[in-house]
Amino acid sequence: MGAVNAVKNASLGEEIVRRINDLAAFSESGDNLTRIYLTRQLREAADLLLSWMRDAGMSARLDAIGNVCGRYEGERPGAPCLMLGSHYDTVRDAGKWDGPLGVITAIACVADLNRRGKRLPFAIEIVGFADEEGVRFASTLLGSRAVAGTFDESVLNVRDRDGVSMRDALVQFGLDPDHVGAAARTRRELLAYLELHIEQGPVLEAQDLPVGVVTAIAGATRLAARLTGMAGHAGTVPMALRRDALAGAAECIGAIEQFCRTDESGLVGTVGYIQARPGATNVIPGEVSFTIDMRAPTDMHRKRAVADIVRQIEAIATRRRLALQLDVTHENRTAPCAPWLKEQIAQAIGAEGFSVFELPSGAGHDGMAMIDIADVGMIFVRCRGGISHHPDEHVELADADAGARVLLRVIENFRPREG
Ligand code: HGY
Ligand code: MN
Ligand code: MN
Repeated sequence: MGAVNAVKNASLGEEIVRRINDLAAFSESGDNLTRIYLTRQLREAADLLLSWMRDAGMSARLDAIGNVCGRYEGERPGAPCLMLGSHYDTVRDAGKWDGPLGVITAIACVADLNRRGKRLPFAIEIVGFADEEGVRFASTLLGSRAVAGTFDESVLNVRDRDGVSMRDALVQFGLDPDHVGAAARTRRELLAYLELHIEQGPVLEAQDLPVGVVTAIAGATRLAARLTGMAGHAGTVPMALRRDALAGAAECIGAIEQFCRTDESGLVGTVGYIQARPGATNVIPGEVSFTIDMRAPTDMHRKRAVADIVRQIEAIATRRRLALQLDVTHENRTAPCAPWLKEQIAQAIGAEGFSVFELPSGAGHDGMAMIDIADVGMIFVRCRGGISHHPDEHVELADADAGARVLLRVIENFRPREG
């Protein structure tokens, strides 16, 4: 690698790591990273991202749903764009790379083009999606669905744990809930959607590779369950007369785990949140709410598994004389990455001197929404131990560098799809 190249690449990786740390400072909690949709911390993070986009020679704005959007014009103003993106919201107690790495790396690539005064035959747009994780309002991909024109307005009435509706949260954030549709883009404006993201799994590390080509993004089904029994005195109600909602939920959770463990084709099921009421040591829980997240390599397999799990939960509730409310809060189909984009990513990986390795994504990404208006490509970057959705999530400088070099090469060599 030439000296200039080495300096450039070192500065790319170092700039990315520095900015990952800068952005991680915006959290609702001082002792962990939690940056939820439409919060003050998200707004402050947005302002910093917008300033970085402008420093990179882009025009930059906050769109109608809170996404940060930057545009770097091509040789001709107003040309269709290669859209790069990822999300800048986080889960609770998150790692600092899931989402921001894709946005910050894209900005670093455009800044590099801008430093060299380089313009391409197409524009480059970067979107930092404001809600990929769906932590606050149960439904995910709100930012990318708005850009894809598939945002479901009924979500505006969904309330968070504090009873605040998305509609009111948008107003508090300084946005107009009746204007969310203005975020929508059209297929003819986009040549493709390309996302760089950490793998969030152990495969690249096992292959000893810094980057990989994503083949498809696994679909997911999220459900919200509520079991209602009868609260009572922990000391006086005989076991046989109880309608204990938490004991019922525990049996359901065990059944979900057992069902997924015995399935040998990659089915995974997770109960990530549970709340028991009234929540006192000496009171039999009368009502329990919990979430279910189901994923499988194919949509058919996932839907069949969800149907089986629902039947098992219904049977448990009936046997225990518990009332059951079970709703699907979110469903995303599996999104295949476009072969022509996989090919261009593979060429860039090879040109950077790495072996080309293809792998599916078990994690969801904004490309699941963006596929409605553009072909989707994804580049994975190795993360230590495959750890993600955890404060120990980490990317080595050299791997952040490698991801940036590959993305920059894809951008500079990008050939729009013929026809
Ligand atoms: O849940 C997911 O797969 C993604 O991290 N939002
Ligand atoms: Mn995530
Ligand atoms: Mn993510």
